Amino acid sequence: MSLPPSNRFRFTADLTICRILNGMWQVSGAHGAIDPARAVDEMLAYHDAGFTTWDLADHYGPAEDFIAKFRRLFADRYGTGRLAEIQAFTKWVPHPGRMTRPIVEQAIGVSLSRMGVECLDLLQFHWWDYSDESYFDALDHLADLQREGKIRHLALTNFDTERLRVIADHGVPIVSNQVQYSLVDRRPEARMAVFCGEQGVTLLAYGTLLGGLLSEKYLGRPEPPRTELNTASLQKYKRMIDAWGGWALFQQLLAVLKQIADKHRVSIANVGVRYILDRSAVAGVIVGARLGVAQHIADNTRLFGFALDPEDHAMIEPVLAKSHDLIKLIGDCGDEYR
Ligand SMILES: NC(=O)c1ccc[n+]([C@@H]2O[C@H](COP(=O)([O-])OP(=O)(O)OC[C@H]3O[C@@H](n4cnc5c(N)ncnc54)[C@H](OP(=O)(O)O)[C@@H]3O)[C@@H](O)[C@H]2O)c1
Repeated sequence: MSLPPSNRFRFTADLTICRILNGMWQVSGAHGAIDPARAVDEMLAYHDAGFTTWDLADHYGPAEDFIAKFRRLFADRYGTGRLAEIQAFTKWVPHPGRMTRPIVEQAIGVSLSRMGVECLDLLQFHWWDYSDESYFDALDHLADLQREGKIRHLALTNFDTERLRVIADHGVPIVSNQVQYSLVDRRPEARMAVFCGEQGVTLLAYGTLLGGLLSEKYLGRPEPPRTELNTASLQKYKRMIDAWGGWALFQQLLAVLKQIADKHRVSIANVGVRYILDRSAVAGVIVGARLGVAQHIADNTRLFGFALDPEDHAMIEPVLAKSHDLIKLIGDCGDEYR
């Protein structure tokens, strides 16, 4: 099974991506043990199926090293001429403090060397504390490194709408912001998506599958105790469900999604991801992949073979209307990290 052309998205003038990005937090060790050799072999299977775009970070354990190993394996198999088919989007999540040119350059140099590339396709920048305005210095140095050819495009992760605006005014060219976005967490719709639409910035969504909770596996299941939630993702998004409206409401959502999924002959996960792919400003959804442990290539391929209709939305919206407003509870996108 291969992906239809509709999976591709023109992310920038020089880069198209698969609208389902393979998330590599799942190889960090916080989601169970990963066998490096199996994981890298599996990356080839994702690529061959059309899932050519990877989301990673400097702090996701061996993720950046896996990109280098994967590129070597890929080049051996298909030749170096085809390496441009791979898109690898990393992040820089610095510890708070002064942001001098050597500090920024050193961090980017480490990612370049670990990933085995001359230039990073996309560098997504995270910052923990808005009251420390050194992030403007970091962004200025990153923009310099971009001009020098070390970074193709600059992006952000977990920035709120207000800072997105301030950074745009500051003049640093940002192409995307990576934020939590799911049927449970629709905060990006409040302010972020409108701003992105106006500015031509796109969103990369994560947490869309709630670490796997948004699937048949949890339909009709009693509320799982914390001890049963054996990955960092499951724990993170179970907390989000608790804030959103709790397990009973989540079961109502799963039941409705199951009816819609059956109608289209797809899975609950497909319906949840399709819903977010169709939202304005969304370029892609990042789906975590426990490489070599669990694999959903065939199921996620179905995402590009169906469409949600007005009847489906009319079933989903009344359930969502019963949930709490996460903007009021948590704040804008990324505020859970601050
Ligand atoms: N910027 C940030 O702050 C941030 C934060 C979190 C994540 N992320 C990014 O987003 C990625 C996704 O991570 P996440 O934590 O948000 O997890 P997620 O994508 O919501 O969930 C991933 C899990 O969903 C399950 N799954 C995938 N496809 C499925 C399908 N078709 N049917 C049923 N289950 C399916 C798998 O569970 P099993 O493995 O158990 O089968 C997989 O491990 C990360 O790898 C990372 O790249 C970024």
